[in-house]
Amino acid sequence: MTRPLVIGNWKMNLDYVEAIHLTQQLGVILKNKPLEHVELVVVPPFVDLRSVTSVVESDRVDLEVGAQHASQHDTGAHTGEVSVPMLQRLNVHWVLVGHSERRAMYAMNDEVVAQTLRTVLRHGLQAVLCVGEELAVRESGEQVDFVTAQLHAALAGVEEKSRPLVTIAYEPVWAIGSGLTASTEQVRDMTEHIRTVAASLSLDTVRVLYGGSVNPENAASLMIEGGVDGFLVGGASLKAESFLTIGQVANDCYDVKR
Ligand code: PGA
Repeated sequence: MTRPLVIGNWKMNLDYVEAIHLTQQLGVILKNKPLEHVELVVVPPFVDLRSVTSVVESDRVDLEVGAQHASQHDTGAHTGEVSVPMLQRLNVHWVLVGHSERRAMYAMNDEVVAQTLRTVLRHGLQAVLCVGEELAVRESGEQVDFVTAQLHAALAGVEEKSRPLVTIAYEPVWAIGSGLTASTEQVRDMTEHIRTVAASLSLDTVRVLYGGSVNPENAASLMIEGGVDGFLVGGASLKAESFLTIGQVANDCYDVKR
C-alpha cells in the first residue's frame, strides 16, 4: 500500500485569523500524537496561505500546504486570478485542479483543467486532479465513460518526469457536501477503473483519493473496502479533531494493510 494522503479543502471558509488558529491547533495535536505514515495537506483560501505557511514553518507543524485553484497562465492581465509561481513563492506545494465547484460555477472546462494541470506540473508542484460525475450521469449509468473522458482530457501526454507529481481525487458531485457518501462498492469500482485508465496513460503508481462527505465514521470502510489511498475532505477538515481523526484512521489502515 502506498503512503496515505489526506487533504483538507477548507473551501471559502475561515478568514486568516481563524486559519492561523486552526493551523496552531493542528500543530499542537500533531506534536502530541504524530501521524507517522500519513501525508497531511491543508488547502486554505488564497488570502490565508501566507499566514498558514508562516505558522507551519515557525511551529514546525507536520503539514503541507496547498491552494484550491491556480491560473493556467504564469502572469499577465487575468484579474482575480493567482499564478502558480506566486503560490510557489509562498511555499505552497500542492494545487487542486478542476474541483467540481470550479468546473460547475466558474466555467472551468476540460481544456482549462488540462492547461492548468500542465502549468502546475511545469513548475514542479503536486497537482490533485479532481474528477467525478453529477447525479444525472450516475442515474443514467454513464459514470464510467464520464470519468474516463475527464481523465483522458487532463492526463493524456503528461511528461514522464511530471507523472510522480499527479494525484487523482474521485469526487462524485452528488456526494460533495451532501452528507450522501458513495457506497464502498461504488468507490471501489470507480477507483479500480481510474487506476486502469491511469495505467493506460503511463501513470501506474498514481495515488487515488476519494472525496465527498468523508467523516471520521466512514473513513475506515472507504479506505479498506473502497480501496483508496486517502481522502479529499471538505466539511470535516474545518475542525482539528475531525480532520486529524480521519488522518488517524488512514494511519491505522496503513498499519493494518502493510
Ligand atoms: P465534503 O467536500 O467533504 O464537504 O463533501 C469534499 C470536497 O469538495 O472536496
